[in-house]
Amino acid sequence: MNNNSVTCVAIGSEGDIVEARQKGRELSKQIGFGLTDQARIATGISELARNILLYAGSGQVILNIVEIEGRRGIEIMAQDQGPGIMSLEQALTDGFSTSRGLGVGLPGTKRLMDELYIESTFNQGTVVIARKWIN
Ligand SMILES: Nc1ncnc2c1ncn2[C@@H]1O[C@H](COP(=O)(O)OP(=O)(O)O)[C@@H](O)[C@H]1O
Ligand SMILES: [Mg+2]
Repeated sequence: MNNNSVTCVAIGSEGDIVEARQKGRELSKQIGFGLTDQARIATGISELARNILLYAGSGQVILNIVEIEGRRGIEIMAQDQGPGIMSLEQALTDGFSTSRGLGVGLPGTKRLMDELYIESTFNQGTVVIARKWIN
């Protein structure tokens, strides 16, 4: 398998969320994550992809294998050119939702993954990067 393989899924419909989720599960399995972590990663991908669909209408999910300082893992990059997130602090608080959702997508994904970073600009869009390492 090619270590530099990049998987990019355009998000614009419910079906695209399913596709991104499946590709994430496959990739995490390929690089050696166990079943529980595969499920965690797939869940994180679908939460981030759902946010793209819900709040920005469209965008993309990019999956990458990452190797930094001898550690190997998976990186999810979810990006859109939507309205941006008003308050990152609120968005990362359990139960905060502007859409009457459960408000656990971002904080939950942060817990399921090892790292999560958000960059968001009003009216320009949002980039969420989440990483999970093997062991
Ligand atoms: N890609 C995005 N673009 C704009 N706003 C977003 C995006 N993702 C999340 N948000 C904002 O952050 C809030 C929290 O997101 P999340 O934790 O997934 O909860 P929920 O989707 O259930 O509301 C959302 O209600 C929304 O206001
Ligand atoms: Mg959400």
